[in-house]
Amino acid sequence: MRSRRSGQRSVGLLLVVMLIAGCEGKPRERDRVAQPVVEDSALDPRIIKALPSGVSEKMARTGQRLFVADCAACHGAGGTGTQLGPALNTGAWTKIEGSPEEIARVIEEGLPPAKPYDIPMPGRAGSFDAEQLKSLAGYVYALHAANP
Ligand code: HEC
Repeated sequence: MRSRRSGQRSVGLLLVVMLIAGCEGKPRERDRVAQPVVEDSALDPRIIKALPSGVSEKMARTGQRLFVADCAACHGAGGTGTQLGPALNTGAWTKIEGSPEEIARVIEEGLPPAKPYDIPMPGRAGSFDAEQLKSLAGYVYALHAANP
């Protein structure tokens, strides 16, 4: 008998949970905002060709998506540069030799402020897991090497 009663109780609890979820959890129709589908967009074939070993095309697409989200505000979409950060897709590196490992280190540690930029590049240690960091650094490496 005891187990039956507790069974009934959990059914009751489940109903309460469903009711709450049904009434309050669900957004009302007019409050609903279409969520953009985040898809990894196509990659320039020149970038694919220039990827360092160990970075697949799929990883580079992830790298590109991360770049757009976390780096493009200062470095421009496609790494073409802005007033806040240098172009990464062209010319010579100024602060690094340019290996993927070094790019990954700069991403993690950031860079101190340097003219003509007003604000330093913030370090992002802990923001990316190892695979994401490798994908992002690989993408930036190839962006620079391909110079699209
Ligand atoms: C708040 C602006 C800002 C953001 C965001 C930012 N950077 Fe930077 N980045 C800079 C600035 C400014 C420099 C130049 C610093 C210097 O010359 O000392 C720089 C330099 C670099 C360099 C070295 C360039 C060279 O020629 O040696 C690399 C590589 C780089 N950034 C990659 C990235 C990546 C990848 C991201 C995204 C995770 C990123 N940055 C996000 C501002 C930013």
